[in-house]
Amino acid sequence: MTTDLRGVPEGHVDRALDLAYLAFHNRAGDATRKRHREALLHCERVGAYDDEEIVGFAAARRLGLSVPGGELPAVELDFVSVAPTHRRRGVLTGMMGELWRRCAAADRPLACLWASEDAIYGRFGFGPATEAYSVEIDTTRPLNLRVTPDRRPLRLIAPADAPDVLAPLYETSRARRGGRFSRDAAWWRRAVCSGDGDDDAKDGPSRVVVLGDKGAPAAGYVVYRVGEKATVTVEEMVAADAPAAAALWSYLASIDLTRKVRAWALAPDDPLPHFAADRDQVRVTGRWPALWLRLVDVARALTSRSWAAPADLVLEVRDATLPANAGRFRLTVDPSGAAYGATGDPAGLVLDVRDLSACYLGGVQVRQLVRAGLVEERTPGAARSLDAALETEYLPFAGEGW
Ligand SMILES: CC(C)(COP(=O)(O)OP(=O)(O)OC[C@H]1O[C@@H](n2cnc3c(N)ncnc32)[C@H](O)[C@@H]1OP(=O)(O)O)[C@@H](O)C(=O)NCCC(=O)NCCS
Repeated sequence: MTTDLRGVPEGHVDRALDLAYLAFHNRAGDATRKRHREALLHCERVGAYDDEEIVGFAAARRLGLSVPGGELPAVELDFVSVAPTHRRRGVLTGMMGELWRRCAAADRPLACLWASEDAIYGRFGFGPATEAYSVEIDTTRPLNLRVTPDRRPLRLIAPADAPDVLAPLYETSRARRGGRFSRDAAWWRRAVCSGDGDDDAKDGPSRVVVLGDKGAPAAGYVVYRVGEKATVTVEEMVAADAPAAAALWSYLASIDLTRKVRAWALAPDDPLPHFAADRDQVRVTGRWPALWLRLVDVARALTSRSWAAPADLVLEVRDATLPANAGRFRLTVDPSGAAYGATGDPAGLVLDVRDLSACYLGGVQVRQLVRAGLVEERTPGAARSLDAALETEYLPFAGEGW
């Protein structure tokens, strides 16, 4: 590789964005560029320079990622782009190495991302750790649900008021699920408050509806847009319980001059498909790996989450890109917490870091990966025992891409 890896100064951010729009075949209007620029100013920025031209770019946003029992410092990789003239020469590989160095220096044990193509990131130790599904509801007829909707008032609020009203409920949802990002005021401002979103999007502005009396904590909220073909697109819905969710879905399904409600990302354990009385009306249109996760510091990650059951296992971890994680380690979990240290004892499970990363939040079972031939179980029952310890009440979920 003849390129030179450097931090990208603020003055080069527009050039980095030009590269990203080139690589992703995007045309960005002024509002979108402004929003992207502002997001990048809050990120670590790594560039691959060929002479003075930026030919590779990756941004790493610092955030807290919810994990079972708490949260850990993480980076979210975004805007990962390599010029079409410089692809497949190791530019991304070089940038990933630089990002790992920065994660270590900043003490960030987790990295995550949304992948444009599933084939790219496994080699760098990422595994798909959360799933999401998409639904479409035919709303040309009334939506029939098997639970009674919460009767509290539904209020349309100004997007500018969203952070104050929505953030407390969002934080509650983070506390019960892994995979959810911390959001600061700048995030809410970029994602919701402006209300206009992408100027290249064909949908209308964001609308925010809250369930609950004014001044009382929200029992649920939905952020949505109405766009082409009279379709209501749900950006995000958070509900405290099933009646609150039923109230919000009923509201969305009854908006005049619309024919369809579409949600692009719901949690895999979302109640909607269960309480929909007519599953032909509420169709699951896709199920897909959502957030990809990488345990950058395996020991720190494993000893920092809560566990559902005791365990005593020897893991042989393979990690081609971050060798400090590789080796044989004993994981012991008891009510006082987890310990993880090198051992010479024989391994019960042999697994690659990408597969351990996929299972870490409790969304993927180790024994599914044993059956898939990806994890080797040398001690019978070891996978079941690790699964019992990893299990979480709610499945991990991330729905951040709006
Ligand atoms: C994806 C992208 C960043 C890869 O950059 P790159 O510099 O070509 O990647 P590298 O040369 O470092 O590739 C490293 C390895 O990953 C493989 N790889 C890279 N991109 C791949 C892809 N899209 N599909 C399958 N394999 C891929 C390479 O073949 C190479 O494998 P090898 O080590 O066995 O030879 C670049 O093609 C790009 O900008 N694509 C368009 C934007 C995009 O999709 N970005 C990712 C956003 S999540």
